Amino acid sequence: MEAKINELKKEFLKQLNQVVSETELFDLEKKYLGRKSEFNEILKNLKNLSPEDRRVVGPLANATKNEIAQLIADKRLEFSGSSDLEKEKIDVTLPGTRRAVGHLNPISLVRAEIEDIFTRMGFEIADGPEVETEFYNFDALNIPKDHPARDMQDTFWLSAKTRTDADVTRKDAERLSMRSQTSAVQARYMQKHKPPFRIIAPGKVFRNEATDATHEHTFYQFEALVVGEKVNVGNLKHIAEVFFSEFFQADVKVRLRPSYFPFTEPSFEFDISCTMCGGIGCKGCRGGGWLELGGAGMVNQNVFVAAGYPRNKYQGFAWGFGFERLAMMKYKIDDIRLFHSGDLRFVRQF
Ligand code: FA5
Repeated sequence: MEAKINELKKEFLKQLNQVVSETELFDLEKKYLGRKSEFNEILKNLKNLSPEDRRVVGPLANATKNEIAQLIADKRLEFSGSSDLEKEKIDVTLPGTRRAVGHLNPISLVRAEIEDIFTRMGFEIADGPEVETEFYNFDALNIPKDHPARDMQDTFWLSAKTRTDADVTRKDAERLSMRSQTSAVQARYMQKHKPPFRIIAPGKVFRNEATDATHEHTFYQFEALVVGEKVNVGNLKHIAEVFFSEFFQADVKVRLRPSYFPFTEPSFEFDISCTMCGGIGCKGCRGGGWLELGGAGMVNQNVFVAAGYPRNKYQGFAWGFGFERLAMMKYKIDDIRLFHSGDLRFVRQF
């Protein structure tokens, strides 16, 4: 009889280990402790045993039965809510798990800073499409049909097949291209607004050119356009000096050199005093003390006329600078291709 009880207990423990739900546990309880269980039979038959056997088997049977009942109760706790609480208990003294937080690309940092400085100076931020019509990218900017900027070498033209019907039926949509300069925003904005106004238009531009350490095929520019009845080159120089001094947190001087752009007259190449040596001359500025930054000029009257303004009523200045080159100067980056490389070792530094 003793062997039988021990055997039952062994079998019970084996099955208890395999129980995965409360229903299974209930069945197991019924099987081992229920009215028709073998255990009950043993207890019922105790009275038929000799007094000596009863003295041994009785306590063993009772103790085993109690033990099984306790094990079932423990297991039930594991399935009940109170055991979930047990599992979800938090030890606040354990070290935390550091969450990976993303951060901005240096281009976005530069853009946010530029927008912040200009909005503080009362400028509005204007926008335009990246897929642009020939009219806004070239004609409205006084760029004649045979200008090299329209050449396949420079401009990503979209093939006729990629145009949608809506584009083709537009009056000004002769051909579409990826815009090659943010100057395309100029006529778009002027058609919808009356001077005086001052805007910047930051955004992506595209050029079909070979890349190197200072040239990308896809890069960012920001256009500035200030139009009123009495705007002059002095205003251009002053606003530029205020902006660059704020941007580089240094006393930055501006130098204008004669140049040519079809949409400005006069036109300038725009240099700033070297941000590394302050203009004395160093490796960064190749000893000259100046860094070349972009194009600028007074808005050509033909551009005003193309946008629907009367000739000679307004004056304005405009410039177009590359973001990447500004970021390269600010963060001392020596290769423009790093910005769009997706190399985490690069972006993690910002
Ligand atoms: C223009 O794009 C004119 N729209 C600028 C302008 C605006 C002149 C308003 C007058 C009035 P340019 O092609 O020089 O000009 O480009 C201007 C700036 O964009 C450059 O000085 C440079 O900072 C940046 N840039 C030009 N090409 C690239 C390139 N391939 N990769 C990176 N940056 C470039």
